[in-house]
Amino acid sequence: MRAHEAGALHADLGHGGPSWLRTPDDVNALVPHLWPRTVVRGRDGVLTVGGVSVRELAERFGTPAYILDEADFRARCREFRDAFKGADVFYAGKAFLCKAVARMVAEEGLSLDVCTGGELSVALAAGFPADRIGLHGNNKSIAELTRAVDAGVGRIILDSFDEIDRLTAIARQRNARPNVLIRVTVGVEAHTHEYIATAHEDQKFGFSLAGGAAAEAVARVLEEGVLELRGLHSHIGSQIFDTSGFEVSARRVLGLHAEIRDRYGVQLPELDLGGGFGIAYTTQDDPSPPADLAAGMAKIVQEECAAKDLAVPHLSVEPGRAIAGPAVFTLYEVGTVKDVDGIRSYVSVDGGMSDNIRTALYDASYSATVASRASAAGPTLARVVGKHCEAGDVVVKDEFLPADVAPGDLLAVPGTGAYCRSMASNYNHVPRPPVVAVADGQARVVVRRETEDDLLALDVG
Ligand code: LLP
Repeated sequence: MRAHEAGALHADLGHGGPSWLRTPDDVNALVPHLWPRTVVRGRDGVLTVGGVSVRELAERFGTPAYILDEADFRARCREFRDAFKGADVFYAGKAFLCKAVARMVAEEGLSLDVCTGGELSVALAAGFPADRIGLHGNNKSIAELTRAVDAGVGRIILDSFDEIDRLTAIARQRNARPNVLIRVTVGVEAHTHEYIATAHEDQKFGFSLAGGAAAEAVARVLEEGVLELRGLHSHIGSQIFDTSGFEVSARRVLGLHAEIRDRYGVQLPELDLGGGFGIAYTTQDDPSPPADLAAGMAKIVQEECAAKDLAVPHLSVEPGRAIAGPAVFTLYEVGTVKDVDGIRSYVSVDGGMSDNIRTALYDASYSATVASRASAAGPTLARVVGKHCEAGDVVVKDEFLPADVAPGDLLAVPGTGAYCRSMASNYNHVPRPPVVAVADGQARVVVRRETEDDLLALDVG
């Protein structure tokens, strides 16, 4: 018998699972808001996405694989676009970017955020309209800035005095006048994991508002008169579930807008409040729909502008995770199952921390289900682990899986569309998995699987 077959489960939770994890009534049930919208478990017990069974996907494309529900991804783009009507929605490509995704983003009418020359290359290679691209980054090189200016990107978000000097020189030399925003650090700490909070003062991004650097950056850009200062930018963190952090940041950034108006007699036309909208990784998470976020943010901005007698600037936002995250699940095959008596079952899959570093890096929580069949067995408390040579190689810390989970089963982990493929590594020389887009009964590879030959091709010894 498996260590945790139902009955003993509640007593065992003190050893293993977190207190919120409850024994499921049915291990085969899918919690809808965790899964891409076209995913269902068919009558035969097998999960399908976009009308294609995961068994077929595993046979054709192998495992592990990231499976992208294209209809879901596009619907989330549209929901943001429609909710933020009158504003610009920049999809944050750092969450996940490839040419096919860049095209979907363009087709759905969104703009695109990139933060390196590499991401810019993908966007340009996909034919993404350059004037709808924004370039971020706290250490953009001369080469990256030059490429962005030459490509005619729509905006560059300035992050340091060195960068102001660099871009001013490039613009002079090229006789160009790029649009810029100044990234302001507003001293708001989003309620999230420390390593992914980006707007409190003690960090590398942006110009400090409280310390006066932001006002000095504005002065420098206006005095030089070479760059087109369009507005201010603030990004307060990730996995944020309400608008209270945005309220404080909008108030502070608009305070600087008002100062600029008073001092220079110009009102900057743009305000970018960044991304960071949270998604559901487990049943504990309850994200707000884009329409609620948009209404909340519009109200905050309008009220602050009225209070400061400012014209309402053109707003933009930069969601990454909230668009890509829920649209993807990772499909693995189970290789070994080990019962560690009195604690839990260790279910090893054919990927791990190389395709999802978030559990190890941020202590992130995920869920999982057996995808290739329904089971009549009761639940067992399991930990889904990878194949890497590291004890911390955990994909899902705690999940109830059917007690008969066995080698050969396909296991699906939802919510892996953001920051999993984009942060994937080759640890232990494991090739990175493909991304397979599925829609209307058709599956196509949009990022191919890396091969051992790809890895050996870099090895010149
Ligand atoms: N805009 C800016 C300026 C950002 O720095 C970020 C994320 C975003 C937008 C998009 O944030 P999102 O809506 O995706 O939360 N690797 C971490 C997340 C790092 C986010 C960095 N900046 C993770 O896996 O959670």
